[in-house]
This record gives sequence, C-alpha cells and structure tokens, in this order.
Amino acid sequence: MPEQVPLLEIRGLHVSVGEREVLRGIDLAVAEGEAHVLLGPNGGGKTTLLNTIVGLPGYRVAAGSLRFRGTDLLPLSVDERARLGIGMAYQRPPSVRGVRLRQMLDVAAGGELPETTVGTLVDQLGLDDLVDRDVNAGYSGGEMKRSEMAQLLAQQPALALFDEPESGVDLDNIAVVGEAMNALLKGPRATEPRAAGLIVTHTGHILEYVNADVGHVLYAGALACRGNPLDLIAEIRRQGYERCVECEACRPQ
Ligand SMILES: Nc1ncnc2c1ncn2[C@@H]1O[C@H](COP(=O)(O)OP(=O)(O)OP(=O)(O)O)[C@@H](O)[C@H]1O
Ligand SMILES: [Mg+2]
Repeated sequence: MPEQVPLLEIRGLHVSVGEREVLRGIDLAVAEGEAHVLLGPNGGGKTTLLNTIVGLPGYRVAAGSLRFRGTDLLPLSVDERARLGIGMAYQRPPSVRGVRLRQMLDVAAGGELPETTVGTLVDQLGLDDLVDRDVNAGYSGGEMKRSEMAQLLAQQPALALFDEPESGVDLDNIAVVGEAMNALLKGPRATEPRAAGLIVTHTGHILEYVNADVGHVLYAGALACRGNPLDLIAEIRRQGYERCVECEACRPQ
C-alpha cells in the first residue's frame, strides 16, 4: 500500500529569531485529522514553531523543510498558506483598528458569511458585544480567545494551530473554547473529515474538552518526547521539564 503523505511534515527545521537560533532540528509529522499537543517551558520556542508554520515574517528558516500535503510551504506567503488550509488561534493576537470582528470573520471565511452562520458563531462563542467592535481592540484576555476561535471556525482550516487557547480564560469559558475546538477537530458530523490540530498548552486543562492523539515536549530547540499528552503533563508536574526529558521514553523522534 502506498504510504499516505502527512498533512504536515517538518524535517530538520532550524529557525532563528533576532540573533538567536530558537529551533534546532524539529522533526514532526501530523496526519490528516490528528490532534497533537505541544508542551515545553516558557521561551522554549512553541510560539516560534507555530508562527513559522503559518509564515509570519521575522522567523528565518536556516535549514530543514516544511511541507503541507506534500507542498513546500517555505516559498509561500501567510495568505497563501491560509488559503491552503492552515489557520491559527494566536497566543497574543494583535488589535486591528478599523476592522470589525464581523468583517474579519468574512475575511477568514474567504467571502461574505451568511447572516445565519454569523449568528451561530456569535451564539456559540458569546460574541454579542464584540462582533461589531474592532478586532481585539480593548478585548479582555478571554474575549480575545473566543474571537480567535470564531475566526478559526469561520475559516475551517485543515490544520488548526492553537497557541495556549485556555490561557486567561475563565472556567465557564474554557468549556466554550473547548467545544469550539472540538467542532473543528471532530467536524460537525462524524462522517466529515476532521481538521488536524497542534495545541500548545501548559496546564492541559483544555484536554478535558479535546481528545488529543499524541503529545510532544519541545525542549532545547527540538522535540524531546512523544507520548500520551496527559501522562506527559503528569510527569512534568512531578519532576519538571529538565528531568522529564531525561527519562527512558524521551528519545529523539
Ligand atoms: N523578535 C524577537 N527577537 C528576539 N528574540 C525573540 C523574538 N521573538 C521571540 N524571541 C525569543 O525566542 C524565544 C522563544 O520564544 P517563544 O515565544 O517561541 O517561546 P514559547 O515556547 O512560546 O514560550 P511561552 O510558553 O512563554 O509562550 C524566547 O527566548 C523569545 O524571547
Ligand atoms: Mg508561546
């Protein structure tokens, strides 16, 4: 049987930001519909990896490859990558003055959304007070996360990157964010193909709502571990990152 091309395939990726080489040989394959969790200490390069995948400027790829369904992503711009089906909920999304969230949802969808679809997103994510305000302008931390989820749901990407989706979100709204993630990752109907996900989390709280297939620890610029995400979080809690990545299971992938 021919081997299936991964949705996302990263090989030997080295990335520098400013003067610093942050990623030093990342290897990762995400199959269609798989949900992966990315753990790692502050400043370890998780956001750098996600920003490099979406193609934000300022992330210099010094070596390695980045492929999406076999297509080389490196020559492609952010919008070309978005059109291929890569979407991201940012850890700290910027404010966009002069653009209302309602308009941004249309941009994410690649065309004007029917009013009923906007209404469903507004209800699903509690956006009544936000949808006619400028994107992220003065939003609270939790409001930003819900706005990010709405944009991803409007886009319906094949690969959704979630950078700390639960950080700053209150306990009621974690469920709202988690359900939105599940709607993407599982699809509204079981027969539909699911989006794949790459989820950055420190606490793992979001995993009470989202089923993840596999977890990785990003440590010292590379992926040090591969395992059940909840087991990895428990291990890190028990003995910290430094000792966790020394354990038997932590072999280079
Ligand atoms: N523009 C920049 N210039 C210089 N250094 C940068 C720049 N952007 C990021 N860095 C550095 O790159 C390193 C990795 O940052 P990154 O945001 O990817 O970490 P992270 O794993 O997402 O951390 P956290 O868990 O705190 O979100 C950090 O040391 C950060 O200060
Ligand atoms: Mg980060």
